[in-house]
Amino acid sequence: MKNKREELLQRRANSVLGGGQERIDKQHKQGKLTARERVLLLLDENSFQETGMFIEHRSTYFGLDKVHYPGDGVVTGYGTIHGRLTYVFSQDFTVLGGSLSETHALKICKVMDLAMKNGAPIIGLNDSGGARIQEGVVSLAGYADIFYRNTRASGVIPQISVIMGPCAGGAVYSPALTDFIFMVEDTSYMFVTGPNVVKTVTHEEVTSEDLGGAKSHAERSGVNHFTASNDVECLKKVRDLMTYLPQNANELAPEPTQFAFNSSKNEAIKNILPENSSMPYDVRKVIDCVVDDESFREVQADFAKNIVVGFARLEGRTLGIVANQPSAMAGVLDIDSSRKAGRFVRFCDAFNIPLLVFEDVPGFLPGTDQEWKGIITHGAKLLYAFCEATVPRITVILRKAYGGAFDVMNSKNIGADLNFAWPTAEIAVMGAKGAAEIIFKKEISQAENPEAKWLEKEAEYADKFANPYRAAERGFVDDVILPEETRELLIKAFASLEKKAETLPLKKHGNIPL
Ligand code: HXC
Repeated sequence: MKNKREELLQRRANSVLGGGQERIDKQHKQGKLTARERVLLLLDENSFQETGMFIEHRSTYFGLDKVHYPGDGVVTGYGTIHGRLTYVFSQDFTVLGGSLSETHALKICKVMDLAMKNGAPIIGLNDSGGARIQEGVVSLAGYADIFYRNTRASGVIPQISVIMGPCAGGAVYSPALTDFIFMVEDTSYMFVTGPNVVKTVTHEEVTSEDLGGAKSHAERSGVNHFTASNDVECLKKVRDLMTYLPQNANELAPEPTQFAFNSSKNEAIKNILPENSSMPYDVRKVIDCVVDDESFREVQADFAKNIVVGFARLEGRTLGIVANQPSAMAGVLDIDSSRKAGRFVRFCDAFNIPLLVFEDVPGFLPGTDQEWKGIITHGAKLLYAFCEATVPRITVILRKAYGGAFDVMNSKNIGADLNFAWPTAEIAVMGAKGAAEIIFKKEISQAENPEAKWLEKEAEYADKFANPYRAAERGFVDDVILPEETRELLIKAFASLEKKAETLPLKKHGNIPL
């Protein structure tokens, strides 16, 4: 028995050592944790149960028959995050560069299948040189097995990808199919083809960091939802995000028993909007004055800044927030902001997270650039996402609600349950200046003083429509409220919608304008 015990302990120790101490030291020197260290930080203390620690690859090509690493370059298993079951896989770069073999993929697929069967989230920690080159097509097939499961699990369980090293080639498509991507500054990157291929094909000289680092994907492509400065901070952020999410699409997000709200924010909220309605302000101040203290977690904060999306809590309950941002491009809707918000709305709807919209939007962004890149199709994504959402949906119109953007931003006619407006709301087809120019064109041009006439007509139109009352008269908004009444009103309004039950017409699936 003693020998058997020792054998097991020795085998465990071998597996834990991954690619060996030298490679572990190299990983540490690069500022990266090892695969196991990451898992242990991600999960609650003593909760991790590893599966498949003795699995080995079966390949014999290119000398692989002589190289065996128990676990085959990926640590898999389950544990808890804040007491809730979570499945995890973590690629071990010290073993053949964390490359994905047939068996490595099999291990990942096993935990994905378990996560689906048990209705629990799956979190993947990615640090890999991609398909194991020596294995050829079987490793490619392994990726395909993962993509297939990612897609089948989409909208059923939350799937989180954390990029903590290289992630290149087709490998990027597994994270892309998941719900949220975290990246670590300086040590992680994602791209379909690396700088060398880029140079050969397009003659561009670019570093890995510029091409696909955390910053580029946070600001330019929007692929990266959350950036962290190192592994430890990143894993903390993942744990934090999980507290906002339900375990699966049949459950509600957990409700923390405690929440705080500094009531002085009911005063502060009165003074956020500038006197002049064409001046900018930061809509995040409004969000902050309404939701529980310190509860707002912005998603894709550095991408398409003209719209703000993120999770927050109201009396402890998770909400998804979508808000036009007047401090960036006047809060206009364009291609990127529509894509960003559309995807967020669909995540919330899939996972029973009620939606709260703060609206201050001058319209869609005009111009050839946007038209030729397909603002029609991309703008329709946000429209589609709101139209199909069946979770409780409330809009508060803070200021501008102009044109098609009024319809798109969770209006009652596209299924929102309740719409409220602040007295500063302006709900019209367009701004008064432009409207006057069009409908009083003749009168203005024939006037003795066209400029004065224009101003007079602009004032006339503004008087009629630059307020919330035309919309309230027709029931397009349910009430006009003072800013300081917003939080209490929303608490009651969401409580009234708690048991909302709405289903979509039976169909295989819709055809969102992709
Ligand atoms: C097998 C690999 C590997 C791979 C790295 N290694 N990538 N082994 N298959 N894909 C091994 C290296 O041989 C080395 O082994 C060890 O991992 C560490 O790699 P280094 O190159 O020394 O590390 P580093 O300098 O940090 O560079 C990391 C890297 C580089 C940038 C990731 O290794 C690299 O470019 N790898 C290849 C990337 C790639 O082209 N993959 C295929 C992508 S296509 P030793 O024994 O020397 O320590 C793809 C298709 C997916 O993935 C398809 C899905 C549809």
